[in-house]
Amino acid sequence: MPCRPIIVSLPSTRSVQNEFRDSRRGDAEVTAVGLKRGAGARAAASDPDPATGLRPFFGYYGGKWRDAKLYPPPRHETIVEPFAGSAGYSLRYASKRVILCELDPVVAAVWKYLIGVSAREILKIPDLGDDETVDDLGLIEEARWLVGFWLNRAVTRPRRSPSKWMRSGIRPGSFWGERVRNTIASQVDSIRHWKVHPVSYVDCPSTRNATWFIDPPYQCAGKHYLFGSEKIDYAALATWCRARHEQVIVCENEGATWLRFRELADVKTTRAGYRSKEVVWTSKKP
Ligand SMILES: C[S@@+](CC[C@H](N)C(=O)[O-])C[C@H]1O[C@@H](n2cnc3c(N)ncnc32)[C@H](O)[C@@H]1O
Repeated sequence: MPCRPIIVSLPSTRSVQNEFRDSRRGDAEVTAVGLKRGAGARAAASDPDPATGLRPFFGYYGGKWRDAKLYPPPRHETIVEPFAGSAGYSLRYASKRVILCELDPVVAAVWKYLIGVSAREILKIPDLGDDETVDDLGLIEEARWLVGFWLNRAVTRPRRSPSKWMRSGIRPGSFWGERVRNTIASQVDSIRHWKVHPVSYVDCPSTRNATWFIDPPYQCAGKHYLFGSEKIDYAALATWCRARHEQVIVCENEGATWLRFRELADVKTTRAGYRSKEVVWTSKKP
């Protein structure tokens, strides 16, 4: 069955700029919190777990951080995200045992780096001038990729140079700079216990008593990833999802047919000014 359109409103340039300027909690927006989450930290009202909820380590196309609250909370101590991306759901419950699987080697390597890097190392990563590229910073590859994810909004792969949004200086907290660096540094110690596997979902370690948060590239809109929807056999994925035990939450977009999805919400997407109708499939006891 052909995919139905998923973008429900295509904004004018002006409305994109307004959204960009006005939004207070874009998925990649971070708040300066210093090395400890303390007085300066601005917790999102929607944090399911204010004690452990973290902000995004990098912005990502299709990231679920902002909308994680729409999905059922985890019933188990272990969360598995077999299509990790920026792991927006797990970030909200970061003190749990988190297992990420991700086929894109760059995304998986950035997670491995974040899980192991010290706050001091992060704080040493310099700013990037408007005319510079990440190659000018003298960093290891993974750090270059991390910075590269912060040079534009909602990307699927790191950039080498600042986007026009970043150069415009409208929202410094949304792009690589002091606020982002401080927030990442303040959070790396909170994910030391996380595990990441650079593998396909089919090879994700099977574990009992887990909440599976399954957010694959969308059947209709997920073509932009290095490993996108055209490489996924959705019938096989449906069988795999049904075979998970315990709590299973599967994300999709209106128009997907590979499971019996039900409506969830009409949400802002990670692309400023765009909206999308999200649908969900959950196991019998969500
Ligand atoms: C929709 S994104 C996940 C977004 C994520 N929930 C977040 O909050 O950022 C889907 C991710 O699945 C990855 N991917 C694609 N095919 C995969 C596969 N066969 N196994 C594991 N990961 C895959 C893509 O590289 C992409 O990062």
